[in-house]
Amino acid sequence: MTRRIHLLMALISLALAVDKYVHMDLKGAPPRPDYFKKSLDLFSKLGAKGVVIEWEDMFPLTGILSSASHGNAYSKADVIGILEYANRVNLTVVPLVQTFGHAEWILKTALFEPLRENENYTNVFCIGNPATKDILSDLLSQVAQLHAAVTPMPFFHIGADEALIKPGQCPEDLEMMEELGTNDTKILVYHHLRTVAKLIQDEFPETKILAWFDEFKNADAQTLRDFELDQRLTPVVWKYNPSDLETYLPDSMWGNLSEAFSTAWGGSAFKGANGAAKIDNDIVPYMSNNQQWRIQLDLHSGKFNRSIEAVIVTGWQRYDHFTGLCELLPTSMTSLALSMDMLENGNVTTEDATSISSILSCPNSTTLVNLIAGNDTCKYEGYQVRDSIKEIVKYMKNFDDYTWIHNLENGWFGKTAQDRHYSSRYYMESLYGQYKKYFKNANRMKKDIINNFGAIYFSDTASEFLFDRVDSFTEKLSRGIEDMARIIGRRSFPVRPLF
Ligand SMILES: *[C@@H]1O[C@H](CO)[C@@H](O)[C@H](O)[C@H]1NC(C)=O
Ligand SMILES: *[C@@H]1O[C@H](CO)[C@@H](O)[C@H](O)[C@H]1NC(C)=O
Ligand SMILES: *[C@@H]1O[C@H](CO)[C@@H](O)[C@H](O)[C@H]1NC(C)=O
Ligand SMILES: *[C@@H]1O[C@H](CO)[C@@H](O)[C@H](O)[C@H]1NC(C)=O
Ligand SMILES: *[C@@H]1O[C@H](CO)[C@@H](O)[C@H](O)[C@H]1NC(C)=O
Ligand SMILES: *[C@@H]1O[C@H](CO)[C@@H](O)[C@H](O)[C@H]1NC(C)=O
Ligand SMILES: *[C@@H]1O[C@H](CO)[C@@H](O)[C@H](O)[C@H]1NC(C)=O
Ligand SMILES: *[C@@H]1O[C@H](CO)[C@@H](O)[C@H](O)[C@H]1NC(C)=O
Repeated sequence: MTRRIHLLMALISLALAVDKYVHMDLKGAPPRPDYFKKSLDLFSKLGAKGVVIEWEDMFPLTGILSSASHGNAYSKADVIGILEYANRVNLTVVPLVQTFGHAEWILKTALFEPLRENENYTNVFCIGNPATKDILSDLLSQVAQLHAAVTPMPFFHIGADEALIKPGQCPEDLEMMEELGTNDTKILVYHHLRTVAKLIQDEFPETKILAWFDEFKNADAQTLRDFELDQRLTPVVWKYNPSDLETYLPDSMWGNLSEAFSTAWGGSAFKGANGAAKIDNDIVPYMSNNQQWRIQLDLHSGKFNRSIEAVIVTGWQRYDHFTGLCELLPTSMTSLALSMDMLENGNVTTEDATSISSILSCPNSTTLVNLIAGNDTCKYEGYQVRDSIKEIVKYMKNFDDYTWIHNLENGWFGKTAQDRHYSSRYYMESLYGQYKKYFKNANRMKKDIINNFGAIYFSDTASEFLFDRVDSFTEKLSRGIEDMARIIGRRSFPVRPLF
């Protein structure tokens, strides 16, 4: 065991440089263009080679696809501005468009319902349906053309992770499988992925296709070659756990991948992978994940003829199209910075802290311990959003931890007291005062959230955040205040029994 750790430490010290791409997931909390650009600037300064932009429903689509667009979708001019800015700060831009699973944003709508693999589920396209191919062709060409008009496009990511609905269910899949002369749904999937890759590469032959590795994990090299996937694509191996990556990503899996593919990319996380409802970033699990990735790179890069070229440091805004928001970018900028250093060197040092502090506009007293603990007061773009989230999270926790209040609630403000307005005024007056105080302060914090979010996000982001995370707290207080006022205003009470 110690030998093994020594070996890993030795490997870490020999760490090879790896290209780092930051993932900009726009399926939740899409930033206003101005904040988008400021974030790109920080990514570049933090050492990113590029950015992977997952537009989802935020791309300015035209034609039939525009019916699935977000109401706040960027304009074409916004996108051009963002891409030009990425060029200016030397970031390679990789568009990401889901072309298999995670197609909820399209398949949820009535218009595109017929393209589902299973009529009851919005996740996965019916990949044997020629109409799916037509829609994907339209979608990919709109995205690729706008990108390529503004910026070089060496890579295009076609998603393809978590296709949770088994292929081979929709009638068109069965027809396609008959045409392909197979009963093996894997063949259908590879046929589809080649079709998708070709849609891009026929027009942009120099563009390499990236795809999450889910469909290639257990693939045999010959089948991949049969479908030219070894030539057309690069698998992106993703795993976001803070520990045990060598168990999740066994040596033989890497060996098998390297037999078919001359390179692979990795996928780590700096946010949005530590609980679907998490809103404040605990940095340590992300640092560990990226440290684990450094070890994976050092152990397995040599298996590939062209090594493991890059890692996408993912930053999920939602787990999928239908889930609530998770940690937002402004609460995660130090996590990104520390994660990037972990990936680069396998560790973070006080020198890293100094350089991060300067890039993220931190007070010069900021230490590595502050950055890791997340109690820094760095003033990078968007820090006010970080502060207003931290403030409300802390305040709601303060209420939860206030035992004295909960003892009063349990004793004198249970369901009967609330419903029949039947309790002791003496205790109600104390509790009422507390509820009023929390209600007033929480509402002040909600206003700050609306203002601070409004500076960098479209207005629906603050509304959704408050609706999901805060409103039930203030509604409980407001209902309590009303009921307590009724009790306090009461001169006498009925005799028991009440039931
Ligand atoms: C971009 O790269 C060029 C050429 O290497 C360099 O001169 C320039 O300073 C870089 N710009 C930024 C913002 O990093
Ligand atoms: C969809 O669900 C309905 C019941 O709601 C069921 O009858 C039908 O068979 C399901 N369709 C598929 C393709 O599984
Ligand atoms: C597919 O399965 C059916 C029924 O099991 C079988 O008759 C047929 O030969 C199979 N086709 C292929 C191409 O394997
Ligand atoms: C790698 O390939 C071998 C031979 O095809 C297979 O037995 C093994 O299960 C594969 N390993 C993984 C992790 O898929
Ligand atoms: C790696 O290089 C060797 C030697 O040139 C070659 O035989 C093999 O096919 C290559 N593997 C891949 C996956 O490209
Ligand atoms: C990482 O750095 C810390 C101090 O910054 C040090 O205590 C620790 O031993 C280092 N770990 C490794 C694996 O190098
Ligand atoms: C930190 O900043 C203060 C105020 O700007 C300055 O007086 C001090 O010299 C700085 N300390 C270091 C170590 O840079
Ligand atoms: C920040 O967190 C660290 C680690 O928990 C702690 O030692 C330090 O006192 C905290 N600093 C502030 C200013 O809260």
